[in-house]
Amino acid sequence: MAKLIITIFLLCFVATGARAQTSNDVSWAKRVDTGSQVVTTLQFYFHDTLSGSNPSAVRVAQPQSSSSSLGGFGNLMMIDDPLTEGPEKNSKLIGHARGMYGQAAQNDLELIMVLNYGFIDGIYKDSSFSLLSLNPAMKTVREMTIVGGTGLFRLARGYALAQTYWIDPTTGDAIVGYNATIVTYI
Ligand SMILES: *[C@@H]1O[C@H](CO)[C@@H](O)[C@H](O)[C@H]1NC(C)=O
Repeated sequence: MAKLIITIFLLCFVATGARAQTSNDVSWAKRVDTGSQVVTTLQFYFHDTLSGSNPSAVRVAQPQSSSSSLGGFGNLMMIDDPLTEGPEKNSKLIGHARGMYGQAAQNDLELIMVLNYGFIDGIYKDSSFSLLSLNPAMKTVREMTIVGGTGLFRLARGYALAQTYWIDPTTGDAIVGYNATIVTYI
């Protein structure tokens, strides 16, 4: 008996919920179920240059009790890194990764990435996605979260897999390969 009452209660609840979703019963909000998704996969390279007279990554903050190494907890970098089609430095420029990353782990090398990946090539010109994620930098392949975007990447959800293509251990300069998968709606 109790089971039956619970079942009836649940059925009423589901029915009410469904009605509220399909009727546009307020003037200021509308729900449309389009059901259609677009999956975009991207492959590009990220050039992070700390050395030289024109670095694309600069340290903007550091903890008071500083270990001066890049890996020190609390170090914060601002970047404007070129994104290219292939791994070579002179490969076609397709966009820029702009924003910040900082060393966010006390006993590991883990970076908090707060970055906008903006594109300038083809139909992706003026589209961008935002990546907000911890980057476990010592892993061979780092998985990171894509949380939104503009232009063709409006309402983006997705992830990026990053793998170092080349690194200079002395300067920290690096070229990183990215494979990103992004879901948007038509
Ligand atoms: C990225 O995709 C390419 C081509 O499919 C593949 O060779 C490479 O292993 C992928 N890299 C990562 C980190 O997933």
